[in-house]
Amino acid sequence: MFRIEDVEHGYDDRMVLRGISVELTERRIAVIGANGSGKSTFARLLNGLLVPTRGRVLVDGLDTRSEGRAVRRKVGFVFQDPDVQIVMPTVAEDIAFGLKHRGLSKKDIAARVAEVLAEHGLASLSERPAHLLSGGEKQRLAIAAVLALEPECVVFDEPTTMLDLRNKRRTTEVIRNLAEQVVVVSHDLDLLSDFDRVLVFDEGRIVADAPPSEAVAAYLDLMAPC
Ligand SMILES: Nc1ncnc2c1ncn2[C@@H]1O[C@H](COP(=O)(O)OP(=O)(O)O)[C@@H](O)[C@H]1O
Ligand SMILES: [Mg+2]
Repeated sequence: MFRIEDVEHGYDDRMVLRGISVELTERRIAVIGANGSGKSTFARLLNGLLVPTRGRVLVDGLDTRSEGRAVRRKVGFVFQDPDVQIVMPTVAEDIAFGLKHRGLSKKDIAARVAEVLAEHGLASLSERPAHLLSGGEKQRLAIAAVLALEPECVVFDEPTTMLDLRNKRRTTEVIRNLAEQVVVVSHDLDLLSDFDRVLVFDEGRIVADAPPSEAVAAYLDLMAPC
């Protein structure tokens, strides 16, 4: 589904991704690597939140540079910090927000919101001010709001980093049960243990691209104290 061709990306003049050419067709793909190795930048390129300084990113043949809107319909993005993502005052309004932009009728929006709230264990929180939710509840809301739009693929940027153990397990289960393609940036080696493919980033390059056990071994080597 994703075709990344000769991509480089820089902020100002500093290159943080180099020589990235990869096709991502597997259903569950993880991205690991040290802090600052370019994982979030790579993730943001996948749905056109960023367009690459050089090269191109295609999603089902759509170039993120010229077809950003269509790409973002296909590819949902869950940020590391749910506060970045929650835009409306209440839980129900936040879920409805994206649906309104899809031109659904009021009745269809209400039905879809109720369905999504129930699916994600948020029904009892529907009128709650979103900013007063716990960290785990906020993450659940952020994920629910993205899934409400029925993307074909979901990119998660460190979805469990800010969570306690119970919410981490819960989020891991949600991701495991998704039928859609997922690309997950994570340091959580449990989460990615049954993934199809793992990319290891180091200083802006992919230095390993393998099934989990092999990729994790490469990552642990990389992280070993000198
Ligand atoms: N918006 C930005 N402006 C300038 N530099 C950035 C920006 N975002 C990230 N960087 C820099 O790019 C490098 C890679 O960052 P990032 O992709 O966030 O890595 P990771 O997610 O692996 O920690 C880091 O050195 C970071 O400081
Ligand atoms: Mg990051």
